[in-house]
This record gives sequence, C-alpha cells and structure tokens, in this order.
Amino acid sequence: MPSWIRACTTDDVEPEDVIRFDHEGRTFAIYQSPEGEFFATDGLCTHEKIHLADGLVMDNVIECPKHNGRFDYRDGEALGAPVCVNLTTYKVKVEGDDVLIEI
Ligand code: FES
Repeated sequence: MPSWIRACTTDDVEPEDVIRFDHEGRTFAIYQSPEGEFFATDGLCTHEKIHLADGLVMDNVIECPKHNGRFDYRDGEALGAPVCVNLTTYKVKVEGDDVLIEI
C-alpha cells in the first residue's frame, strides 16, 4: 500500500537542483525544476548504482556524475547511452513547506 512520506522542505532543494533522501534502506533523489515544480526518482543511477544527487541538473535533466548518463527526472526516461533503463519516478505533493513523496 503506497503512503506519503515527508522527504524535505521546499527550502531544502534549490530550483534546478537535486538532493538525496534516504528512507528505510532506500535512497531517492528529490528535484526542483527551474519552474519551481518538485519531482522524485530513485536515487541511484540505473547504470551502475551511483547516487544521482551528486550529479548535475540541467533544466529537466539529471546527469549522472560517473559516466554522464542522462535522465529526464520528470518521467524517468533514460535519454541515451550508457543509460538504457528508465528511472522509477514517484508522485510528489507539497503541503505547506513540506515536500512529500508517495512510496
Ligand atoms: S553510473 Fe550512471 S551513467 Fe554510469
């Protein structure tokens, strides 16, 4: 049964940036788009399990820090070699100053 988990506050992640969120042995990446919308994906790259929060956000794309694989963090789409497996994404909602993800 999915449930909503508080991941961070809206101030914790800057526009066009990403932070890491760990919960019960799992790791997630929380993004704020340049437009101020929040998104969440699995925290590890599907190529070699590197933390995406250490990568670079450009517009709506996260670039993995290890081999520069890129994903669209809005829908998790892998955008080309070396990444070929999409990221899992999670629903996000903002309540007051809190960013919640559904896991
Ligand atoms: S570990 Fe992310 S692109 Fe290779």
